[in-house]
Amino acid sequence: MVYACAPPTLRRDQGTGGVALTLKEIVERARKDTVVPISERDVERTLSALLASEDIWRVIDLSQVPVMALVRVLSALKGAGLLDWDGGRLVLTPAGREFTESLGIGPRLELKCPHCGGRGTTLGPVGEIAGRFREIAADRPEAIQDYDQGYVTEETTLHRVAFMWSRGDLYGKDLIVLGDDDLVSIAAALTRAPRKVVVLEIDQRLVDFIRDVAEKERLPIEVKQHDLREPLSPDLKGHFDTFFCDPTESLRGFKVFAERGIAALRGPGSAGYLGLTHCEASYAKWREIQRFFLDAGTVIAELRDAFHDYVNWPYIDHMRSWPHLPVHRIPGHEEIWYRSALVRIEVVEGPHIEERRYEGDIFADEEAATT
Ligand SMILES: [Fe+2]
Repeated sequence: MVYACAPPTLRRDQGTGGVALTLKEIVERARKDTVVPISERDVERTLSALLASEDIWRVIDLSQVPVMALVRVLSALKGAGLLDWDGGRLVLTPAGREFTESLGIGPRLELKCPHCGGRGTTLGPVGEIAGRFREIAADRPEAIQDYDQGYVTEETTLHRVAFMWSRGDLYGKDLIVLGDDDLVSIAAALTRAPRKVVVLEIDQRLVDFIRDVAEKERLPIEVKQHDLREPLSPDLKGHFDTFFCDPTESLRGFKVFAERGIAALRGPGSAGYLGLTHCEASYAKWREIQRFFLDAGTVIAELRDAFHDYVNWPYIDHMRSWPHLPVHRIPGHEEIWYRSALVRIEVVEGPHIEERRYEGDIFADEEAATT
């Protein structure tokens, strides 16, 4: 299907109560009293998502606009008479539809490959341990807000492990997992591919759970209780081929996880894996993160967007963005809306990491939405 594009004019005054509006004016309204970055492109993305769905969770997912920015854009659109949300749905008004059409914006398309869910990999040999992993994960500790937990689907964890294996970062390698509510250590060790798996985890419940499973299944996993705000002990620093972590997404928190992971690597050729969202990270933050990786002597070797699907966590109505949402419907347990990219970095030189001790809250920044 071909979408006809409107002429490149941004000014329209039909249907908006005689008030001429531009994308720039919507952005200015949205930016009022907030320091969260919001761009004209974010408004376009929001309108495009609103053409595709009237459901708040789908709009969050499809728009790829950070939640704390999106709620401001939605308010600005409502204030301008372009959007309404009576009855729990986000509905563009006739003026909103005209405005969107005048800008040449079409509905957001999601064209995921139906075979791999858009991940670009199959499970391969990891498929053989999928059943056992699912049985083990059925008894996992539930996610809690204290440590910004929220785990991925079991399917996602299995695909992560397959991806690492396919990149030569698992078989015969030493793997360290920094924070493991996703149980990556267990899935990885069940394959018997890695030589050794070490887990650093702050939550005593997870430490106990992973230790018990490792003992029962005779898995080569060593679990240490560790607060990542503290530097790595000398026996861990520089001793691993691969690290995996799914950081909290404040810029400071992300760096805490990434610094510890990179410091654990042996050197050039070692690899690291991290998750990164749109929900809690603007492209301004992505840029800071990319700069950080380059400065650390690493390169982003691969980035697979929307690789990780997260199961909804029980504290969703207590998360930071909840009171700001225009509609308050609790999504179903596996009604996926929060996703993250899988980022693979590889050390090219160094690594150049200055290990610091951090204090205080590492979870919050202005874009944090789910903490
Ligand atoms: Fe595919």
